[in-house]
Amino acid sequence: MIAGKKIILGITGGIAAYKAASLVRLLVKGGAEVQVIMTPNAKEFIAPLTLSTLSGKPVISEFFTANTGQWNSHVDLGLWADAMVIAPATASTIGKMANGVADNMLVTTYLSAKAPVFVAPAMDLDMFKHPTTKRNLDLLRSYGNHIIEPAAGELASHLIGKGRMEEPENIYKVLDAFFDQQHDLQGKKVLITAGPTYEKIDPVRFIGNFSSGKQGFALAQECAERGAEVTLVTGPVNLSIAHPGVTRIDVMSADEMHNAVVSRFPEHDIAIMCAAVADYKVEHVMDHKIKREKGDAPVLTLVKNPDIAKAAGAMKRPDQVLVGFALETDNEDAHAHEKLLKKNLDFIVLNSLKDEGAGFQCSTNKVKIIESDGSETVYPCKDKRMVAKDIVDVLKSKYLK
Ligand code: CTP
Repeated sequence: MIAGKKIILGITGGIAAYKAASLVRLLVKGGAEVQVIMTPNAKEFIAPLTLSTLSGKPVISEFFTANTGQWNSHVDLGLWADAMVIAPATASTIGKMANGVADNMLVTTYLSAKAPVFVAPAMDLDMFKHPTTKRNLDLLRSYGNHIIEPAAGELASHLIGKGRMEEPENIYKVLDAFFDQQHDLQGKKVLITAGPTYEKIDPVRFIGNFSSGKQGFALAQECAERGAEVTLVTGPVNLSIAHPGVTRIDVMSADEMHNAVVSRFPEHDIAIMCAAVADYKVEHVMDHKIKREKGDAPVLTLVKNPDIAKAAGAMKRPDQVLVGFALETDNEDAHAHEKLLKKNLDFIVLNSLKDEGAGFQCSTNKVKIIESDGSETVYPCKDKRMVAKDIVDVLKSKYLK
């Protein structure tokens, strides 16, 4: 519920700024206390007076108020808020947020904010598609920020494409749903595996895979924001997670991940096996670097790694829930059903490498959830954070008391 929540609404300089007035109105009507922060350019698109009248609070735009000398503390504001929403978020502000360019009140407050942050981009279609924008949005996602994807349609340039800020009603709904579910995993302990494993060949080489860890990290963030105590066992990844509810355990190989999971699973209520574990390791790891010039090309003998999900499935108590993933390239459903049974999972999240926008490295995923009771749900391609929400929603509604 939005009633009683303290929300910072950051408005940046894009044409969609005019829609921010409706968003303020909706939030205030819903019972929220709204503090508007505008970038200097935003004031060219909508008058601060409109927003201060609707929010019932003076709009903040500068570090201090010139005529009184009153200092506007971004630190206090950052601590005050239950959520920060940046709508519309221009490519420029997204870039500043992603890279810590704190040259205005909005970005300094963002950097000080402890609350969850929602970003609703709005820009022309080519700006939205630009690799810089994509990378900056990926960075924001990796910081745990929620991206409210823009809609497709006619843009201010009259071009048609993706880049229109999501409608205020829908932004309101995202926030409302977020506050509703915020603590529905309170008191639960969740164990999550993420990323690839690296299997050593010699001191400088390994066998690995392309897993980025993004889906596992998104799940950890989602569970922690919903009040769970999360243990995240991750292989080598380039990601960070700052939520205080997440304890991160870094491992390298499948054996290390296996030990970390098997020793901790009994004290957890839920385990989500999201890691792309290497199926094989090198039988004899060289203790010195293999040299190119010496002798013939080496032949590596591989031996099987432990199946971590299967080991957890064998230990699972009736009060525990075990979720697995399956990344397939062919016969997807049959393979997923087989894994569900073999590993004693409660449900499995299937993604097919045939689907555009699914699988390793990308920020989106397209999944099908197959449950042990035979039910199946197909989801559209979404941001991995939203996929995490879908998975946790199934967990919550069907598997937790
Ligand atoms: N898994 C695991 N330990 C392994 C292999 C897989 O915990 N050694 C888990 C994965 O995290 C995932 C599920 O089992 O939740 C399915 O993984 P996947 O790689 O799709 O299946 P495999 O069992 O490895 O089978 P295959 O490689 O033959 O498809």
